[in-house]
Amino acid sequence: MTTLADQWGIHPEQFWVRGQQPAQPVEFVEELGLWNVYGHQEAARIFSDPRTYSSDLTMFFPEIADPSMSEGNLLQMDPPDHRKLRNLVSHAFTPKIVADLEPRIHALTGELLDAVADKQSWELVADLAYPLPVIVIADLLGVPSGDRELFRHWVDALFANANQFSLKDESGEQAREFQKQQEQLQPMLDYLRAHAAERRTKPREDLLTQLVQAEVDGDRLNDNQVVNFASILLLAGHITTTMLLGNTILCLDAHPEQAAQVRADRSKVPGAIEESLRFLSPFSAVARRNTEEVELGGVRLPANQMLMVWVGAANRDARQFDRPEVFDVTRDPNPHLGFGRGIHFCLGAPLARLEGRVALNLLLDRFPGLRTDPEAPVTFMPSPNLTGVRSLPLLTGGARS
Ligand code: HEM
Repeated sequence: MTTLADQWGIHPEQFWVRGQQPAQPVEFVEELGLWNVYGHQEAARIFSDPRTYSSDLTMFFPEIADPSMSEGNLLQMDPPDHRKLRNLVSHAFTPKIVADLEPRIHALTGELLDAVADKQSWELVADLAYPLPVIVIADLLGVPSGDRELFRHWVDALFANANQFSLKDESGEQAREFQKQQEQLQPMLDYLRAHAAERRTKPREDLLTQLVQAEVDGDRLNDNQVVNFASILLLAGHITTTMLLGNTILCLDAHPEQAAQVRADRSKVPGAIEESLRFLSPFSAVARRNTEEVELGGVRLPANQMLMVWVGAANRDARQFDRPEVFDVTRDPNPHLGFGRGIHFCLGAPLARLEGRVALNLLLDRFPGLRTDPEAPVTFMPSPNLTGVRSLPLLTGGARS
């Protein structure tokens, strides 16, 4: 049967978006040398126990141990260092700072939509879903958002690879690809380093200044920590919220009865965004290493295995979600793992949710007849670890100013 996921061209390895359940919640993949975790309860258990399931993968990739790349990278850290750094950066990136951005996000979305208001057709990612989060995060950090074509150039290579990640890299192709990505990202790190150095001598009203000044228990962040943390924000600001906006519009377009409900009752907008995160989870996989022998999902894993935790599959687990293959904006509760869970729960979730809510509301206000273009199909990100729209041509059907 051809599913929506087939029509949309989502990566063929992602069986869960095709209405299929895994044969077992945890399985070893011989040819990749790693374990796939698909089950919701197994994923939740991993996220709730960072001592047994570490985020430090340097044992598999010695190259990422270099402090110029690893210091400040919250995603790769374990307690107690993780808690200390997260406290420091949370201090600079508070819910209030995010909530205060609402008028700016509203105005910016309005400006971006003004530019397409008279067009019969436009492309959601290029015209709104890419620039909006990138401009917001660049403004917040205090780097010129006009440099965003530079950022895009630096970041594109990171997500271009369509191959599954493997620990068995006999040909060395994966290592070469990684090297290439690092080289391409280096100018971004240099760029952020130069901005951070300037803030140390000339403070401004921006997040970079707050990061260089943030202090907990008398400790401050060093340059590597500031640069690597800022680069995670800039990277996350690039593709994740972009995919969330694209996926949400696509899901509503494919489910007109749900779209009509959201249009008529805007209190359903947050529910639509959460369901979009469950139904098409932008970050489909995160990685962990078990520090000791464990039993998980009915199988025994020796210590120090690499685990790919497929949050996208966990979000479709029929043991957790009633009718997981149905897109339902009123799903409640919706304990999806789209932003992860536990100590590494996405720090940018309030910002992504805010941008999603503001943008969806304005799109619904301004374009009563908005729909996908049957002549120009959607494209998805090629990486098997992402589930997200890369381009989405739209027909306006007439705009309201
Ligand atoms: C729809 C949009 C987003 C999705 C789906 C998403 C997804 C995730 C996921 C799954 C994790 C957990 C990773 C793990 O457990 O290893 C995470 C962590 C993180 N995210 Fe997001 N993210 C989004 C937007 C953002 C934005 C906009 C920012 C910042 C501006 C951001 C910054 C971060 C940071 C700093 C972490 C690391 C937290 C830690 O390790 O303590 N994310 N995100």
